[in-house]
Amino acid sequence: MWNTLKEFRTQSSSVKNTRTSNIQRTDVKPHKLSEIIHQEKDRFTTGFSEMDSVLGGGIVPGSVVLLAGDPGIGKSTLLLQMALNISLKGKDVLYISGEESEQQIKMRAVRLTKNLKNDSLFLVSLTNTDEIVNLIQNSKLGLVIIDSIQTMESENLSGLSGSVGQVRFAASEFIKVAKTLNIPTVLVGHVTKEGMVAGPMVLSHMVDTVLFLEGEKNTGTRILRSLKNRFGPVDEVGIFAMQEGGMAEIKNPEQIFLTKSNNAPGSVLVANLEGTRAFLVEVQALLIYSKLPMPRRVTAGIDYKRLEMLLAVLQKHARLPVDQMDVFVNAAGGMKITDPACDLGICLSILSSIKNINLSRVVGIAEVGLLGELRTPPFLEKRIKEAKKLGFTKIITPKDYHSIEEVVASLTKDH
Ligand code: TYD
Ligand code: MG
Repeated sequence: MWNTLKEFRTQSSSVKNTRTSNIQRTDVKPHKLSEIIHQEKDRFTTGFSEMDSVLGGGIVPGSVVLLAGDPGIGKSTLLLQMALNISLKGKDVLYISGEESEQQIKMRAVRLTKNLKNDSLFLVSLTNTDEIVNLIQNSKLGLVIIDSIQTMESENLSGLSGSVGQVRFAASEFIKVAKTLNIPTVLVGHVTKEGMVAGPMVLSHMVDTVLFLEGEKNTGTRILRSLKNRFGPVDEVGIFAMQEGGMAEIKNPEQIFLTKSNNAPGSVLVANLEGTRAFLVEVQALLIYSKLPMPRRVTAGIDYKRLEMLLAVLQKHARLPVDQMDVFVNAAGGMKITDPACDLGICLSILSSIKNINLSRVVGIAEVGLLGELRTPPFLEKRIKEAKKLGFTKIITPKDYHSIEEVVASLTKDH
């Protein structure tokens, strides 16, 4: 402070480096592969089967998971529910929040569960990295949750919480305790506007598993994906819905992605593949003659560029007058469709709207090329199976038709 003096002692660091060189250490020994005991059996469930499958079969002891996502998407809610589930099974869980007070978390817990007589879930509102490490070392825990890594700061380091140095330090400290004490740890990570985990890029490299929770804010649908997993495949997805009582697992995605018995023209089904999971989604199109020199193209859940390409293909190869029409296309239930296998379904919804033909029980599965050709997408059989399972029998695939022209001709022959 101004007009004050304080004594600081600097430590000499050069001595340390020469004395403890690694070369003299002889106690490090590699182990035979056969000697090493692995702990596949010790995985434990999060209480959500959707989340377990994304993790590759549950939580691995000593693993560090980074859960990233936009603010308000439901990370804290999902983790608090997970903490409730796991603590009910008798494991002690510590939920450390740098963002909310203990009272706030309790209030959320009241919304999430009726069973509040829980002596295994511990809450603490804390942002000091060193204090947290101490706390973890001195308690016997089955799981630690840190919400969020960007709020953690250590006094040993300059820089505010959220700075690259602080985040990196906090993460390496938490990873170190997790590994030495074999306590699984979940870190919450914020996401920047560009959709990256805020803070240092190395964060994703340091942890064992990176999960992303995403979804449109205004629809309740949330998709949990793994971007990196040292203990399982990365192509699994878990589907949740944000509801009054927290996050609910959606085991049959069709219940939200298919609107009920829709018989109006403009609706067609696509078989969308998310990870290794196929499910049907309804695509809706509305086309009207435009009064604008540049007709409108409005999409929700469908890539704009992809739609423009499909419109060009329809214009050229199916001779549909889409250039004079305003086009509105959306995927039901807030789903984002990026799978090229949905091309044909999108084209058919457009055809259905223009020609006023009811195709609402038709499933279109094919990628459409620039020449109007239909291409077989990966996992065609899996998609067909899913459609049949739900009772849809009119399934259009490249097995029966070679081009969009043929499909359009066949569907419009009576009109
Ligand atoms: P939250 O878990 O705080 O998001 P994050 O930690 O990712 O920032 O979720 C906040 C939102 O979730 C908030 O807008 C309210 C909503 N919500 C529900 O819809 N139902 C619930 O039971 C809870 C607890 C929250
Ligand atoms: Mg939060």
